[in-house]
Amino acid sequence: MLRTEHTGSGMDELDKLVQAVLSSPKYKNVCADAIRNIGWRELAKRRSWKEALKATKNKLHQVGGAYFGATIPYAQLLDGLRVAADAEGEDGFRRVCVRAMRHHSSTRERLGILDSFYAQVLADLSPIRTVLDIACGLNPLAIPWMPLDEDVQYYAYDMYTDMVGFLNEFFALAKVQGEAQARDVIHSPPMRRADLALILKSLPCIAQLDRSASVRLLEVLNVDHLLISFPLHSLGGREKGMLKNYEQRFWEWVAGRPWAVQRFEFATELAFLVRK
Ligand SMILES: C[S@@+](CC[C@H](N)C(=O)[O-])C[C@H]1O[C@@H](n2cnc3c(N)ncnc32)[C@H](O)[C@@H]1O
Repeated sequence: MLRTEHTGSGMDELDKLVQAVLSSPKYKNVCADAIRNIGWRELAKRRSWKEALKATKNKLHQVGGAYFGATIPYAQLLDGLRVAADAEGEDGFRRVCVRAMRHHSSTRERLGILDSFYAQVLADLSPIRTVLDIACGLNPLAIPWMPLDEDVQYYAYDMYTDMVGFLNEFFALAKVQGEAQARDVIHSPPMRRADLALILKSLPCIAQLDRSASVRLLEVLNVDHLLISFPLHSLGGREKGMLKNYEQRFWEWVAGRPWAVQRFEFATELAFLVRK
């Protein structure tokens, strides 16, 4: 329903732009749909194809690439998870999950509150049998900390194809019935019904790509509960009144909707649990 059609003579230019982005080492693992959906807007806005290419890469950096270094050592992390799953028990497995989560700044920032975050925020929701993790990054690695039903079905979505490949292997090792998919969650939000959707620290990224997309996403997800969070520090580490700004934006997004909201404030993250 939110899928965007790109037709007409601009098509060649757009195909060329998608190919050019995919040929750069930094963006070769971004799913083509996400590049296409950013690219067509930039082509419409910019004076030349070259400017549109540059702007598309900048956007991809702001919403994805800025959160991790040049590469995440997925094969090495999977080896560690395999060894831990075979021989090191639950604590050992969690230790490797923590090591993996350090590779993405969103999960790295959450490590200090991980023991209380999910336990506190999801305490009243059990049983949680289906979860959608929207723009997930490496957050599925935090499943061992989440109070989920033991037969939970966990669906995770991000725009990086290599990341979702890694997450699918992680699900098998963690013995979680999970599935990760690469997709643009703005234009192809998952329509699957679920108990809970996690939208952690990603609404500001989504709003950067399309200002009206955040509220559309909250509306369209077919879930009983939404857990929405915001960072309280920028990537550069400065405060900049983020709490006040994000809190205000959140209340604007949910205004006028008959949804019950609980608010939770942690040292590094502001969270809202919404019952739709
Ligand atoms: C700030 S990080 C949050 C990651 C994770 N939710 C967490 O809190 O640990 C934003 C994530 O959104 C993903 N992302 C941004 N725009 C997206 C889009 N249109 N479709 C799918 N994923 C997207 C990025 O790749 C990145 O992993």
